[in-house]
Amino acid sequence: MTHSTTFLLLLLLHLHHHSATATGDIPTPSPPSPTVSTLDPKQLRALQSLYIPTTHDPCTQPSFHNATVCDGGTPFRHLLSLRLTNCSGDLTLSTTALASLSTLTSLTFSDCHVPIVHFPATLSNNLRSFTSINSLQRLTGVFLSRFGNLTDITISGDTIKASGIRIITSNMKSLTTVTLSNTNLSGSIPKHWNPKLTHIDFSGNNLNGTIPTSFTLLESLKLLNLSSNQLTGEIPDSFGDLTSLQILSLSSNSLIGAIPGSISTMSRLTHLDLSSNQFNGTIPRSISEMKGLKYLNLEKNNFHGVMPFNLSFIKSLDVFKINGNDNLCYNHTSISKKLKLGIAACDKHGLPILPPPAADEPSSDYMSSGDYGDDGGGGKKKNGGDHGPNKVVLGVAIGLSAVVFLIIFLVILSKCGGRCCCCC
Ligand SMILES: *[C@@H]1O[C@H](CO)[C@@H](O)[C@H](O)[C@H]1NC(C)=O
Ligand SMILES: *[C@@H]1O[C@H](CO)[C@@H](O)[C@H](O)[C@H]1NC(C)=O
Ligand SMILES: *[C@@H]1O[C@H](CO)[C@@H](O)[C@H](O)[C@H]1NC(C)=O
Ligand SMILES: *[C@@H]1O[C@H](CO)[C@@H](O)[C@H](O)[C@H]1NC(C)=O
Ligand SMILES: *[C@@H]1O[C@H](CO)[C@@H](O)[C@H](O)[C@H]1NC(C)=O
Ligand SMILES: *[C@@H]1O[C@H](CO)[C@@H](O)[C@H](O)[C@H]1NC(C)=O
Ligand SMILES: *[C@@H]1O[C@H](CO)[C@@H](O)[C@H](O)[C@H]1NC(C)=O
Ligand SMILES: *[C@@H]1O[C@H](CO)[C@@H](O)[C@H](O)[C@H]1NC(C)=O
Ligand SMILES: *[C@@H]1O[C@H](CO)[C@@H](O)[C@H](O)[C@H]1NC(C)=O
Repeated sequence: MTHSTTFLLLLLLHLHHHSATATGDIPTPSPPSPTVSTLDPKQLRALQSLYIPTTHDPCTQPSFHNATVCDGGTPFRHLLSLRLTNCSGDLTLSTTALASLSTLTSLTFSDCHVPIVHFPATLSNNLRSFTSINSLQRLTGVFLSRFGNLTDITISGDTIKASGIRIITSNMKSLTTVTLSNTNLSGSIPKHWNPKLTHIDFSGNNLNGTIPTSFTLLESLKLLNLSSNQLTGEIPDSFGDLTSLQILSLSSNSLIGAIPGSISTMSRLTHLDLSSNQFNGTIPRSISEMKGLKYLNLEKNNFHGVMPFNLSFIKSLDVFKINGNDNLCYNHTSISKKLKLGIAACDKHGLPILPPPAADEPSSDYMSSGDYGDDGGGGKKKNGGDHGPNKVVLGVAIGLSAVVFLIIFLVILSKCGGRCCCCC
């Protein structure tokens, strides 16, 4: 592409823009500005090399799929943000193109499979936000570590070759959002972070070791997703200090212990997923004091004791999962069997009734436990449980009706004995 064609193209763009404004073709009612500037020709050329459509001025709003955002400079405008989505197969990045795009503060690749190339230092230092979702190939920790001024890094679905997370993020002192998910990272989770961090997503890697206690210093943290790793140890006792936290997922790790009671001080928490771990302590009743909670998943663990939630709390949730906890049971006095929680009912000692009630056993258990006597006394009907008394009542009812039937039969027989015989 020569200079003259670019100039021609620019001229055309310029003319198009003017005529469009004049005839009112552009839907957005942009205020008439005295100087209408267009994109820097060097940047326009760079966009063309990246197959971004430039038949319309990429700086006018709304731009093609929001691919570009420009500043308001004169005589030329410059790109602030660029999003490459669903790229064609023969796209290649060139260092030349990237050099002319060094005004960018935000760069996004999404479904754009290209191998990385060297990023010029001016661009690396200028970027505040960098995203690669199912896109960049051959990413390394060293490559990413050069983006020292990032506030927001998102890498998802792209393998990163690195000895751990630390090498990627240790230079990024201003990070507020960090997503490194499904990137095949291993090693442990770094302890030191910008205290203003709001989002951490390290899900779907091979991270091991424990959850750093220092995480509880992140007072602004709203989202923590560490699911699908190989983390061990317990949830730190001080986790309740994360009072801004709204979403917490630690699912599919190898965590043990109990849920710290302090968790209820996370008053903004709406989503709590601790499923598929080896938690083997008790579940604190204080969780039911968390008024904002909508999603609670504790399934596939080894929690023990009496499940502490009542019906009104369970009904206040959109999702509640607790199955797959063999040592956990529910108090059948307060929770109906109809709920199908997937855990056993408790006996009077707070232990699961095992195996899951077969036809006859519960009533005999119930009788032998001596509760029947109490019930007969009439004092604590509500404590009787569901299945026990029903069986007894049913038995009595069948017995009584058999007797009544027999009496009626005998009465009929005695009243019309002769005639009936004649009929037959
Ligand atoms: C483009 O950006 C505007 C404003 O940021 C947003 O409202 C709109 O949904 C975006 N459109 C697309 C297709 O992403
Ligand atoms: C991506 O591009 C292909 C062809 O290039 C097209 O068929 C597909 O619909 C596009 N997908 C999206 C999400 O735009
Ligand atoms: C960006 O990073 C460079 C070096 O990494 C540094 O010299 C510069 O001061 C930083 N700029 C801002 C605005 O933080
Ligand atoms: C993922 O990392 C492991 C080492 O931790 C390595 O052996 C494996 O080849 C990596 N997988 C991919 C797809 O890069
Ligand atoms: C956590 O990450 C996993 C895997 O990337 C994802 O499926 C899940 O939706 C995330 N959970 C939340 C609450 O963001
Ligand atoms: C974590 O995994 C690495 C290998 O990726 C291993 O060298 C290290 O000992 C493991 N650490 C723990 C605490 O399991
Ligand atoms: C939980 O499991 C760990 C490791 O298996 C064990 O050391 C600990 O005593 C268990 N805790 C309880 C309350 O069972
Ligand atoms: C259910 O539990 C919550 C929280 O512990 C409590 O405030 C509420 O009064 C209980 N409701 C019933 C019907 O027991
Ligand atoms: C079940 O609940 C009843 C009434 O709320 C209580 O008296 C009983 O002790 C509880 N049982 C267990 C095993 O916690």
